[in-house]
Amino acid sequence: MLKMAIIGGGSSYSPELVEGIINRYAQLPVTELALVDVESGREKVNVIADLTRRMLQQNGLEQVTVSVHFELDDAIRGARFVLTQLRVGQLAARAADERLGLKYGRLGQETTGVGGFAKALRTIPVMLNIARKVEELAPDAFIINFTNPAGIVTEAVSRYSNAKIIGLCNVPVNTHHMIAGMLDAPWDDVQLRFAGLNHLVWVHQVTCRGEDATKQVIELLCDGQSLTMNNIKDMPWSPQFLRALNAIPCPYHRYYWQTPQMLAEEQEKAKNGHEGTRAEQVMKVEAELFALYADPDLAHKPEQLSFRGGAYYSEVAVELISAIHNNSGKNLVVNCRNNGAIHGLPDDAVVEVNCLVDAQGAHPLMFGELPPLMNGLTQQIKAFERLTIEAAIHGDRNQALLALLGNPLVGDVATAEALLEEVLTLNKPWLPQF
Ligand code: G6P
Ligand code: MN
Repeated sequence: MLKMAIIGGGSSYSPELVEGIINRYAQLPVTELALVDVESGREKVNVIADLTRRMLQQNGLEQVTVSVHFELDDAIRGARFVLTQLRVGQLAARAADERLGLKYGRLGQETTGVGGFAKALRTIPVMLNIARKVEELAPDAFIINFTNPAGIVTEAVSRYSNAKIIGLCNVPVNTHHMIAGMLDAPWDDVQLRFAGLNHLVWVHQVTCRGEDATKQVIELLCDGQSLTMNNIKDMPWSPQFLRALNAIPCPYHRYYWQTPQMLAEEQEKAKNGHEGTRAEQVMKVEAELFALYADPDLAHKPEQLSFRGGAYYSEVAVELISAIHNNSGKNLVVNCRNNGAIHGLPDDAVVEVNCLVDAQGAHPLMFGELPPLMNGLTQQIKAFERLTIEAAIHGDRNQALLALLGNPLVGDVATAEALLEEVLTLNKPWLPQF
């Protein structure tokens, strides 16, 4: 029996995951997929369940049971893996975060700045509730968390529950694909050494067939090679900066280190009659996706899903689950307790690093000290993250204010105070802790 519960099963991303499971069925012979969603998402989760059944059948896997649930207990009971990919307040709340940031001349992006802060406040109580159910009903299960802000959410659950949790993001795997592409080398010939926080991670070293290729990749980036995600504009980095940094920043670093350009870009899109904010664009894509998913003749993942930022997310999820299930000891980049891997961060801080993954979970490989500039930003963001967790768990306005102030994309007390008031008002239905 290999049961997987998928919380947020009605997500438009689910067919991506199902495709990953089908492709790796030999390593991961799943017996049941238990899709869970909220009552208001009944229609969507049923569309996903039907599409999932058709996809399984198309691939000769009709023996896999697909069940739909609107409460957690039956779905979690007996599960080996509990995948969390939920969005409290749906895309409308994400759009409101983006618009709120812009109103104050700030970035309100999904996982950085005030957007990441508000999303964390909405999400942490829900995730802790899921973790309590896992402790009670499936204590050996691993929670595989995609829910953003993934680093913060994973740390909150890891520190405040006894459930086993590993956080995941597709940035490392996308980066690996892109760098292998730049070097014109197969995936397996390229090794990347990552260390940082989720959406704040750097590639510190690239090796290709055992030779150091870091400088070569930096030069390719200086020559204008692209390295970004679908959801982030490929604003080129200055060659002087890249050479000075001597590491490869992740796409999300643009929000911190190219703030005026990224903000101008967001403001432009958000203007009346333009494309709209990222969440507003994604809402349109989602409507199209669900129209396709509902077609009874469709039995595969449609191409349109690749427009989303989460491309390859199934690859990381299934690789990780398979490494645990098969006790493989594979080297994967995941979010887990630091345990001394990055010097200068607490052991219980969740970090994004290369880990060896086996049946016991993720074991971070020693990294050591981050260079000063990266360490400075990492420390500041980790302080923001930890204050946000305290605020979310205890409904503490003081910690919330300090958290916002500690975020480099907020900047000053008056703005932090005003943003906090607006976040608490706008999100009232999802913030019972305040
Ligand atoms: C990237 C990030 C994910 C994020 C996604 C947003 O893939 O790693 O954490 O959820 O982008 O994509 P979207 O299409 O929703 O803007
Ligand atoms: Mn991510």
